[in-house]
Amino acid sequence: MNNGEAIPFLDLIGQHRELEGEIIEAIRAALRKASFIGGEALDEFEASFAEFTGSKYAVGVASGTDALKIALLSAGVTTNDTVVTVPNTFIATTEAISQAGALPAFVDVDERTSNMDARALRGYVERECLKVDGHLFDKKTGRRVAAVIPVHLYGQMCDMDEIMAIADENGLIVIEDACQAHGALYGSKRFGMKMGAGSMGLAGAFSFYPGKNLGACGEAGAITTSNADLAKKARMIRDHGQREKYFHELEGCNGRLDAIQAAILSIKLKRLPEWNRQRRSVAALYNGLLNGMEGITAPFEPEWSESACHLYVVRSKDRDALKTHLADAGIATGLHYPLPLHLQKAYTRLGYKAGSFPVAEEAAKEGLSLPMFPGLSERQVRKVAEAIGSFSVKDRVCPEGNLTGRMP
Ligand SMILES: Cc1ncc(COP(=O)(O)O)c(C=O)c1O
Repeated sequence: MNNGEAIPFLDLIGQHRELEGEIIEAIRAALRKASFIGGEALDEFEASFAEFTGSKYAVGVASGTDALKIALLSAGVTTNDTVVTVPNTFIATTEAISQAGALPAFVDVDERTSNMDARALRGYVERECLKVDGHLFDKKTGRRVAAVIPVHLYGQMCDMDEIMAIADENGLIVIEDACQAHGALYGSKRFGMKMGAGSMGLAGAFSFYPGKNLGACGEAGAITTSNADLAKKARMIRDHGQREKYFHELEGCNGRLDAIQAAILSIKLKRLPEWNRQRRSVAALYNGLLNGMEGITAPFEPEWSESACHLYVVRSKDRDALKTHLADAGIATGLHYPLPLHLQKAYTRLGYKAGSFPVAEEAAKEGLSLPMFPGLSERQVRKVAEAIGSFSVKDRVCPEGNLTGRMP
């Protein structure tokens, strides 16, 4: 029963109340110059976002999905290629692979992080592929395996050193799906320093969907890279394949980032380090309160990862009942994601079945995303933890082995 304040899953109103004056000023400036596509606002945002991620270039595009698609196309991925990723991601990752003309293939994730398991990637390469003249081919489909997309899910970095070592050995391009990981850091032995999400692979893809750590007031995305050729090609593909107006070197798409969104993103980017610090404090508080609570597994952060804490996802064997219990207490939660991609109707053609990726399947059954946003107060976090605790206590005292803890 909800007797108190409701706690939203995400509050997007607070940040906009704070920034309203600056945002309106930016929109007014665009209106007065009729500057809506390209121009200074875009250049400024691209320069500052490149610097923020530790990349030489950022290319603003229309969405995270376009960022992935255009990055793959710019890297030379083409029809008849296969691109390897994980099944527990948003469908945009695999949509982008298909839109680039390639076929998605999956490998399972690590039990503790729910991110791409480098051992599973190696297993796929060694057991399911053949190497011919330095190129990798999927034995089942005969397709060239061209690229791998590690997804930094929930803002947590994948084990990039391992994944990049496997990619190097096998001639695979690495495109990071950093759509949930703005500002996440990876302590890299390979690079001998902390590296930002999106700066290690050949390219990184970011989404600025409103609910992301850095969110536009609409749709937006960006590609990051330190490769000048890739940046040049991506700029061309996002703009109908033209380098010069009406002279098309190739077929591209309308994948440009609006100038008004770029100006708004520049305003918000200045706040992002502080917002990410607040997210990390919220996560630390949750960890302190939930660690050791029976029936609940708090997220695991490997020593090499500094998560951007986009989502805070706990695991429970009785996830659905816990979700209902929290909803009854006025606490909104989310599921990211309830059904792994290999079991979605959209991908029956890939021929996977239940049991193909058991770790991802388990994560989909057990994961529950708790409220997480900058500005979530200590009192609210404690209320969420208390509500979870009251569910767990019922679990422990339940009579006659009723595992769900719900009284008959
Ligand atoms: C992991 C992941 N990849 C890709 C995307 C696609 O981004 P967008 O919604 O901006 O197209 C998202 C965003 O929802 C995402 O979370």
